[in-house]
Amino acid sequence: NVEAKVDSVLNIMTLEEKVGQMIQYNGSWDLTGPASETGNKQKEDRLKKGLVGSMLNVLSVEATEKAQKLNMENSRIKIPIIFGYDVIHGYKTIFPVPLAETASWDMEAAEESARIAALESVAEGVNWTFSPMIDVSRDARWGRIMEGSGEDPYLTSQVAVAKVNGYQGDDLANPTTIAATAKHFAGYGFAEGGKDYNTVNIGKNELHNVILPPFKAAADAGAATFMNAFNTIDGIPATGSESLQRELLKTEWDWDGFIVSDWGSISEMIPHGFARDKVHAAEIAVKAGSDMDMEGGAYQAGLEQLVAEGKVDEELINDAVRRILRVKFMMGLFEDPYRYINAEVKKEVPYEQHLETARDIARKSIVLLKNEKDLLPMSASAGKIAVIGPLANDKDTPIGNWRAQGESNSAVSVVEGLKNQLPDSDIVYSEGVKLGMGERSFLMPLKINKTDTTGMGEAVKNARDAEVVVMVLGEDAFQSGEGRSQANIGFAGLQLELLKKVYAVNKNIVLVLINGRPMELSWSAENIPAIVEAWQLGSESGNAIADVLLGKYNPSGKLPVSFPRAVGQEPLYYNYKNTGRPYSEQHVTYSHYTDIENGPLFPFGYGLSYTAFEYAKPTLSSATLTSGETATLSVAVTNSGDTKGKEVVQLYVRDMVASTSRPVKELKGFEMIELEAGETKTIDFEISEEMLQFYTAQEKWEAEEGEFRLMVGTNSEELQTVTLNFQK
Ligand code: IFM
Repeated sequence: NVEAKVDSVLNIMTLEEKVGQMIQYNGSWDLTGPASETGNKQKEDRLKKGLVGSMLNVLSVEATEKAQKLNMENSRIKIPIIFGYDVIHGYKTIFPVPLAETASWDMEAAEESARIAALESVAEGVNWTFSPMIDVSRDARWGRIMEGSGEDPYLTSQVAVAKVNGYQGDDLANPTTIAATAKHFAGYGFAEGGKDYNTVNIGKNELHNVILPPFKAAADAGAATFMNAFNTIDGIPATGSESLQRELLKTEWDWDGFIVSDWGSISEMIPHGFARDKVHAAEIAVKAGSDMDMEGGAYQAGLEQLVAEGKVDEELINDAVRRILRVKFMMGLFEDPYRYINAEVKKEVPYEQHLETARDIARKSIVLLKNEKDLLPMSASAGKIAVIGPLANDKDTPIGNWRAQGESNSAVSVVEGLKNQLPDSDIVYSEGVKLGMGERSFLMPLKINKTDTTGMGEAVKNARDAEVVVMVLGEDAFQSGEGRSQANIGFAGLQLELLKKVYAVNKNIVLVLINGRPMELSWSAENIPAIVEAWQLGSESGNAIADVLLGKYNPSGKLPVSFPRAVGQEPLYYNYKNTGRPYSEQHVTYSHYTDIENGPLFPFGYGLSYTAFEYAKPTLSSATLTSGETATLSVAVTNSGDTKGKEVVQLYVRDMVASTSRPVKELKGFEMIELEAGETKTIDFEISEEMLQFYTAQEKWEAEEGEFRLMVGTNSEELQTVTLNFQK
């Protein structure tokens, strides 16, 4: 069995070799973080001595083979290394960014894109992805909101499981699967002010009820690894948090994978003011349960010395190495260190077929926000179509940030997508204004055009003569992602000015948004008749958008995050807790903003279709639920329009009085249905005690007796309620 094999290897390792397993080196300089102090020559020497457990950013069969050979053919101990990489939304075939894909509410799609990403990764020797990112985030200012699944713990948990299953399959040793990483453990999405890497100040209630559930789901689904986080949480750096890592994840949850640090996050405990130097940082991290040091040099600098001085018990090192070896055994690497390094695999990868899947998932991810004046779907015989905007013919932005090996400028643009499907139509494109300027990349600050208006005149002229205008605006690919927090979330640069100028000459505008975060869209929502949230949809973006605009696909996406009316509302989320003064009709002294309409512009769970759905009154099989039993909530949904369409039926729960204040509603279930025009289906949700549980004042997951409201409907605001009494 695996444990015996792990021990048999561990028992013959020297301390130096054990520490080596806990070190991960970057393969190409400066790709995702600051330059390392260690040089390539030193890396090579250590590889030859078997003193490196893993490498990241080593891509291609040739490169991984070279590194593995240096290790396997020269080292005494011959423990295969594993190759990690940020495969976030596809490897070569790029799928919608995770926030977008979550908007599909289609867990089969989420699993399928991960499966494809795994296959394309192993074709290049990569056998470990730093994904899924399952940080719940409620702040649109945070650039990395695009990498997660939005503001809801339940929805994020579902995606976590789908992704882990998609990457890992049911057998980690299968050479078409890769190991997954649940990240960032924990709290990273709650950075104060939405500013990346910032302090996180939350208590146990928020931590356990909101942030941890997706991680528990990923652990239960068998995620092979976790990554800890850059942030402090209640004063303690997550990387140095013993209570999170060793006590909760490894002991209470009984999870047996290993934890990799984030890039240099062990050494970053020095600027946090939590460690004196690298050796001290290593001591804190290893005690806390961080098993592998990503390119930080702290474990290399300190662990052997710490054991020799008796400051760190070698048993802690053994625990970390045991975990790392276990994953390597489960990946089948001891049987064949080159299992994932096979030039033949690439020849078999059906890249063309993957593009078809990418298109299907992309169109499922689109959310129709507004559709007035019957502008959509557009008629194929529409007269002149003016396609305008800096992102209209942009083939790069839809690839998004964290694009792995997705080629720059390789996406189908909106102009191309429309022309592909309307080859005989009169489609006129004008950029209007530029958005991102000059060279753009993961590590470069982005320059936004704020002055050059040279293209505006032509755009306005084209708009004036057109039957309909498709405006394509939003965010540059490098406005969201790591280190891309923003204080403003409206249209950057001259985009709104362009939109207003076009609107002045032609009001038949379909606004297509390409973006990685919720945006502030108040002016557009008030004035523009049709708005399509198309996110950054990946390789097939333009084709998928054309499918929706032309009615070849009836939009079915729903928002996984609230869209604000103003950035000052952030953090904004539907599952908030009531204050003692939730509203007042006469007075000022209640919880609200005085200068805007309160509540989101578009709520969580919201999305329109080209058809309409009507909900009958929900019924409950029993008004009382007793511990251990279940009740059924049923609701009939009718497609009352004249087109076939999909609807995500959503179930929310509220615990009316509890030992801690509970959110006004929380998503607890959803089901996607497809109905022909006129068809009715009854959806049954099984209500269980588990659904009513939360992390209580007694610091336990349990359901407390009393009244619950169950709400069902088409989004988090349009809901019908039934009451349930829970008793033990
Ligand atoms: O996986 C990432 C992480 O999410 C952010 N810092 C760098 C890591 C490796 O690239």
